[in-house]
Amino acid sequence: MKVLVTGGAGYIGSTTASALEDAGHTPIILDSLIRGRREYAVRYPFYEGDIADRELLGRIFREHPDIGATLHFAALIVVPESVAHPYLYYHENVVKSLELFRALDELGCERIIFSSSASIYGSNTGSDFKVSEDTPHAPDSPYARTKHMIEMALEDMSRALHFRSIALRYFNPIGADPAMRTGPYDEAPTHVLDILADVASGRIPIFRITGVDWPTRDGSGIRDYLHVWDLARAHVLAVERFDAAFDAFGGDFIPINLGSGRGVTVRELVAAFETVWGKPIAKEEAPPRDGDVAGAYASADRAAKLLGWKTELPLTQTIADALRWVHEVRPRMLGY
Ligand SMILES: NC(=O)c1ccc[n+]([C@@H]2O[C@H](COP(=O)([O-])OP(=O)(O)OC[C@H]3O[C@@H](n4cnc5c(N)ncnc54)[C@H](O)[C@@H]3O)[C@@H](O)[C@H]2O)c1
Repeated sequence: MKVLVTGGAGYIGSTTASALEDAGHTPIILDSLIRGRREYAVRYPFYEGDIADRELLGRIFREHPDIGATLHFAALIVVPESVAHPYLYYHENVVKSLELFRALDELGCERIIFSSSASIYGSNTGSDFKVSEDTPHAPDSPYARTKHMIEMALEDMSRALHFRSIALRYFNPIGADPAMRTGPYDEAPTHVLDILADVASGRIPIFRITGVDWPTRDGSGIRDYLHVWDLARAHVLAVERFDAAFDAFGGDFIPINLGSGRGVTVRELVAAFETVWGKPIAKEEAPPRDGDVAGAYASADRAAKLLGWKTELPLTQTIADALRWVHEVRPRMLGY
């Protein structure tokens, strides 16, 4: 199937484009390159432009009338930036997604899969930190609120218009494509594993375990890390099983958590990292940063039931792939 991939020059969109291709599908990339990497996009038919550009969307669907689904990754994603620039985030993420959805409806696209985020649950995680799709939302940053708002609009528009939609709520994707075609590209990384890799190579002097008094099993925060390749595979399954998922679930909109279903604490992640790296890294304990939460992990039962998906790659492989990407492949491919 041809699949429109907005944000396909970015970290997760480019990994998913590779997974789509490996499964015999054809990704068509739409990305403005406001972030992301041109190298990641040009592997496929690539349209450089904005998701809210109706004329461009019209051209894409004229040139590819057989597009069967849209994966909507394009967004701004940096939480502190969203706090400093809320208008930018509501405009880029919410307003432009509404324009995209309206255009996709007019262009006859019947299947939309939206990149949502576990951050919409905020700190609403109960005492066991496990969240299901029915856990009430408590988004606690402008970024998270854009995801929450887009989901609400998408649900209403799916009911009223011609498309149906799935919101995939990602937990904590990390790592790089195991075949090393793409990976995280940020020179100043904010993802924990990229930071650990930079500490290991000496680019960053020390790793801070921020928050060690949370009510978790070892006091550090708890997250639900999953290999970005497992996440990418979930999108392929969401495309392939889209209609069957609605046959089983009903309605016009399905939110689905994507996580391993197991929590990993920050201390456990650091220990796994040191095992793969082969020696201890420089680390220290520090108080939580403003806005930090104890964390959460997914109830992933719905993804198993509707998509036949669960995570497969162990944390150690995720770490090994991330290290190979950051230390060997990315410097060759991107020059840093
Ligand atoms: N990375 C994570 O940990 C994480 C977690 C949960 C959800 N998500 C969601 O997954 C999606 C992809 O995230 P990512 O980590 O790959 O981010 P990314 O920044 O690497 O990729 C986003 C891509 O979207 C493009 N883009 C942004 N605005 C655009 C616009 N208006 N028109 C066209 N292109 C535009 C950027 O150029 C970039 O290539 C986002 O929607 C994000 O909110 C990410």
